[in-house]
Amino acid sequence: MSSSTRQIPVMFNPLSDGFMGDPHPHYAEVRRHAPVHEHPGGFWMVSRYEDVEALLRADLSVDKRKALGAADPARPPRLKGLALIDQDPPDHTRLRKLVSQAFTPRAMSGIEPIVRELVDRALDELDRAGGGDLVETLAFPLPFAVITRILGMPEVDTVRLRELTSLLIRLGEPGAGSAAEADIEAADTEMVELVSDAISRKRRDRGDDLLTALIDAEDDGDRLSHDELVAQVAMVYVAGYETTVNLISGGILALLRNSDQLGLLRATPDLDRNAIEELLRYEPPVHLARRITLRPHRVGKHEIPAGSVVLASLAGANRDEEFWGPDADRLRLNRENARRHVSFGGGAHYCIGGALARIQGRIAIGELVRRFPDLEQAGEVRWNGLLSLRGAAQLPVRV
Ligand code: HEM
Repeated sequence: MSSSTRQIPVMFNPLSDGFMGDPHPHYAEVRRHAPVHEHPGGFWMVSRYEDVEALLRADLSVDKRKALGAADPARPPRLKGLALIDQDPPDHTRLRKLVSQAFTPRAMSGIEPIVRELVDRALDELDRAGGGDLVETLAFPLPFAVITRILGMPEVDTVRLRELTSLLIRLGEPGAGSAAEADIEAADTEMVELVSDAISRKRRDRGDDLLTALIDAEDDGDRLSHDELVAQVAMVYVAGYETTVNLISGGILALLRNSDQLGLLRATPDLDRNAIEELLRYEPPVHLARRITLRPHRVGKHEIPAGSVVLASLAGANRDEEFWGPDADRLRLNRENARRHVSFGGGAHYCIGGALARIQGRIAIGELVRRFPDLEQAGEVRWNGLLSLRGAAQLPVRV
């Protein structure tokens, strides 16, 4: 074959045409032609459902410093590095036990009325204005207010906190660490100060809330250190809020683009719970999970060497026809096995906040579509430009 006719191998390429608006056709191509591949960007990508599931459950690391060629393996982890999402056993096991005490079903049971009240208020605002940007009025403020309330955060500069979390989520993005490094570092330092200050004030003014519970968190005499505590609080903001924004805005957009399903949901409130699972599958708020191989790791016919970064394509797995069947690409709110999506990950790092996210998504989306029978998109979506936490930055609607 001459060089002019040689095929360019298929690989993950977020610069491919139309990727931001709809990355799923590209994911499908990668899944079909290169389901396990080594990328010149310095990582492997795995995107079939069975492989992703198995990878998430396997004994791999989440500690970036364990990758071969990591920038500075000896450097102590920054704020986010101390959070349980970036820790391997035994620290992960210890921290997860402590943090999950605050996310028990009992703790979550009191949340629903709070969410309803916040959703009602946001919908009133949309009603008065005849529409607006759904991200700014509902998808952003709801999870932010909910997480602030659950934590019982003392009064903080919420505008600044929002700016800081949106900078810190870039840490989890493939390719982070170059241009944005200095900004991220500064945001990290400022976040530590902001959260440390909130913790000191909370110690003096305790409440029936997650922050007090974390301060008190004790398991057989095992407490969180101050740095660990700060890291878990920052993580809950970053992991809990930016993701739920995407669930709400992405879920609503998917319904607007599939009017038969929007009509079905409007007419069938009993479908709300399954609808959230299908929306999580169809338009996952988090597209990638990262692991590091500690020893050679086999996926199908490929042996991934020790010290490799492996990205599990959650979004790819969620639409794998081999698992979901020929209509994997269709939004079908009554799909029986929708709950088997991998949008909350799997294995030891399975999302702690899944129940909380589901409550918010279910109420926000259900209430919105039923309160406004004429809901429609009123302009172009602006995308946030992120690969893993891909979502809308602006979604104009008319009600
Ligand atoms: C729709 C919303 C959400 C999505 C799609 C989501 C997704 C995920 C995913 C994929 C992981 C696993 C990451 C990995 O394996 O590397 C994860 C972990 C985690 N999530 Fe969520 N999340 C959501 C909401 C929340 C909320 C509301 C909270 C808390 C308030 C939260 C807290 C966490 C924590 C603490 C972890 C780390 C668990 C561990 O490492 O053991 N998440 N989430």
